[in-house]
Amino acid sequence: MHRIVITLPAMLVALSLYLPAQTASKGAPPPKPATPAIQVQSNLNQLMRGVLYPASNVVFFAQSDNPADVKYVPGQDPSMATDPLASTFGGWQAVENAALALTESTNLLLIPGRTCANGVPVPMDNPDWPKFVQDLRNAGVRAYQAAQSKNQDKMVEASDALSAACAGCHRKWREKPRLADRCK
Ligand code: HEC
Repeated sequence: MHRIVITLPAMLVALSLYLPAQTASKGAPPPKPATPAIQVQSNLNQLMRGVLYPASNVVFFAQSDNPADVKYVPGQDPSMATDPLASTFGGWQAVENAALALTESTNLLLIPGRTCANGVPVPMDNPDWPKFVQDLRNAGVRAYQAAQSKNQDKMVEASDALSAACAGCHRKWREKPRLADRCK
């Protein structure tokens, strides 16, 4: 059985074949591109596991280990790496990008309509929600600046602020004896 693996280069080639074909059609005015509406596709737990958790691990890594020392895995193509630190955009750049992913994730935390895994709506109407989100945003910006400076002492400070931002919100809405009581 062959699996069809679509790599980025393959996608770029496919795209370049597709684009001229698109623009070649003359006559009728080009159709207006559909504007996709903002949509929620995951519950809060999934968003945390998919975006915030992996990105924060990359940031936390840079406290104790120098990202510049991370080596490509021998025999592995860095463009296919599953560890951002050992990827084409690895080392300190991976830390910068993870910090930016965290900062951008705050926008996702502000999209209305998301529920928690137990079906309870994300408590966005509670005035503490935007405060915790802002704390995360500030910590993300700080981690980005620390990564840009390639200074591990600054990474330690930024990581402290980051884990405090995660923990503050978790204490209020996640750490409940019963799953059903989360987000209330
Ligand atoms: C604004 C609030 C808020 C912030 C900030 C926040 N979280 Fe969360 N997080 C939650 C809530 C609430 C849950 C539980 C969601 C659910 O049950 O659907 C959660 C769940 C999680 C989970 C899933 C845990 C499990 O039991 O599977 C992980 C992992 C996680 N968060 C990581 C993080 C990290 C890392 C950060 C900081 C970089 C962070 N979160 C910042 C509110 C927040």
